[in-house]
Amino acid sequence: MFALGVALACGDDRPAVADALAVAVECLHCGSLVHDDLPCFDNASVRRGRPSVHAAHGQALAVLAGDSLIVLAFQVLSDVAAEAGDRLPKLLEIIATSAGTPAGLIGGQALESEDDCTLSDYHGAKTGALFRAAALGGAVAAGGDEALWARVGDGLGAAYQIADDIHDHTGGDLTVGKPMGQDSRLGRPSAVELYGLDGAVSRLKRTLSDTVEQLPEGEGAAPLRHLIGQQTKRFLPKSLSTVAA
Ligand code: IPE
Ligand code: MG
Ligand code: MG
Repeated sequence: MFALGVALACGDDRPAVADALAVAVECLHCGSLVHDDLPCFDNASVRRGRPSVHAAHGQALAVLAGDSLIVLAFQVLSDVAAEAGDRLPKLLEIIATSAGTPAGLIGGQALESEDDCTLSDYHGAKTGALFRAAALGGAVAAGGDEALWARVGDGLGAAYQIADDIHDHTGGDLTVGKPMGQDSRLGRPSAVELYGLDGAVSRLKRTLSDTVEQLPEGEGAAPLRHLIGQQTKRFLPKSLSTVAA
């Protein structure tokens, strides 16, 4: 939805290409979660309120399902090669960068094996990369401004992961359907651990307002502004909405 909203804000002149890019991002997202829940990573038996893939079908199939979703991201883009034309190489590069190492999803998961890493590198790779792919990819699919939308993707990605860390600590909408308290249980770097709860909340509010300020005003961007407004309402748990910024 984010990728399609960005494409629409950029004129959406090749809708089949924007659709394919959005599907590719969704495939990466789902594949990364199937892998993330495996016993060798977060060992989570529930995802979106249902048994995670390895809990339902075993580890071997979960590894392969995650792998095949990553491959499928590239297949859906190659299916629209003719319509994408000169935009295809950049779209493939965006998806590859956000999936791989050092700064993509796989790099982010690998950082969990390091003795120390900075929170921004960890958040940027495990989460920011996919938000950037959605925003930048949506813009490239529609011939939009790459620098602007890369910044918006990075900002929303940073805000989302701070929110996820806060919800993991306190409970809340973003943890519905998946285990909470995972970060401290697994010793993961988190915004709450680094900045404290109030500090994380302040950082979330600032990151969000800095990012939303950059969204263009035009009519084409209205659905995206609405989408971001609706989704980011859930970023701060209701129990914390009175915490001072
Ligand atoms: C998952 O990060 C990031 C990737 C799958 C690359 P988390 O482990 O923090 O995400 P949740 O909380 O399980 O959704
Ligand atoms: Mg994880
Ligand atoms: Mg996890």
